[in-house]
Amino acid sequence: MDVSAFCRQSNVVVVAGKGGVGKTTVTAALARAAASCGLDVLVVGLDDSGGLPALFGQDRPFGYDDVLLEPGRASDAAAGDGICRHVPGRIRGRVVTSDAALLQYLGDHGLGRVSRRLVQTGALDVVATAIPGLKEMLVLARVKQIERDQTADLVVVDAPATGHAVTFLTSSGGLADAARGGALRSQAEQVVEMLADPSRCQVLLVTAAEETPVNEAVETAYRLEDEVGVHLGPVVVNGCYPVLDHLDADPAGAARSAGVAVPSAHDSGRLAAAGAFRARRQAHQAHQLDRLARDLPLPRIVLPYLFSAELGVREVAILASSLAGGIEALP
Ligand SMILES: Nc1ncnc2c1ncn2[C@@H]1O[C@H](COP(=O)(O)OP(=O)(O)OP(=O)(O)O)[C@@H](O)[C@H]1O
Ligand SMILES: [Mg+2]
Repeated sequence: MDVSAFCRQSNVVVVAGKGGVGKTTVTAALARAAASCGLDVLVVGLDDSGGLPALFGQDRPFGYDDVLLEPGRASDAAAGDGICRHVPGRIRGRVVTSDAALLQYLGDHGLGRVSRRLVQTGALDVVATAIPGLKEMLVLARVKQIERDQTADLVVVDAPATGHAVTFLTSSGGLADAARGGALRSQAEQVVEMLADPSRCQVLLVTAAEETPVNEAVETAYRLEDEVGVHLGPVVVNGCYPVLDHLDADPAGAARSAGVAVPSAHDSGRLAAAGAFRARRQAHQAHQLDRLARDLPLPRIVLPYLFSAELGVREVAILASSLAGGIEALP
């Protein structure tokens, strides 16, 4: 599938998955991949921007206003006839916090001054706790407002970890059912509408080729489809070891046939142990990928494990091109 067409399938992509599987990294990679084919992208962190700024070479956390991460050439692309010419698009980042979303909501309803005082005294927390799902719904309502404003071609949301992601995405439906009427209900209904419309929103589940993340990805996928009716994009299996052949070869023999210095017996032993470790790791990974294929009928995109101490702009570019390759290979 064409990368630009993929990125234009829906206005919002929510990147979700178990804690630590690489949601933030994949959010950055998807933003890069989309910008590479000319889309104007807004990256949204929820509550705080976490590791997102570093992945774009920034050292300051995102705020509630847009931060320019990549100037791109969005204006050139937009000036034409709408045809993607593969000039890089702009990337901006921001956070959406539940407190700010709540403040904005109350402000929009003429309660601005009161609400500020309520936040300062912590009273809003009491209200939000008393109405389960309120904070999540308000955050999504803010994302929906950003989507409706159409200030970006694609909004990529770095969602909370799995358990929270399910609550995060199901809470609006619960509120829409529970609220008798009024502004709260209509907000919740509008969120539910956005989530159920594949041209407006889809969820990209990220997992690792490990037992628990695969189990959680499968369970989350079914719950999100059943309980939210949200469209699921391909599953991204992040951090997969590139598959190497001949790991059981004798290191000394392999060195001889390659015409390089033959390692000492001690080093040969260590190389053989490293080869055996990698072979076990690959077998485990293949088993988990098989399980995922068997239990979840969604297309998969595999991203490589990058052997870097820390991920930054360079690594995100590598993962973005790998992600683009995976998208191109989709049916
Ligand atoms: N493909 C990869 N290769 C190597 N390291 C990776 C890869 N993807 C992510 N990492 C590393 O794994 C760690 C977790 O990644 P990341 O922060 O993106 O996960 P997350 O799902 O957003 O975590 P959290 O649930 O805590 O928000 C980070 O240290 C990141 O640099
Ligand atoms: Mg994260």
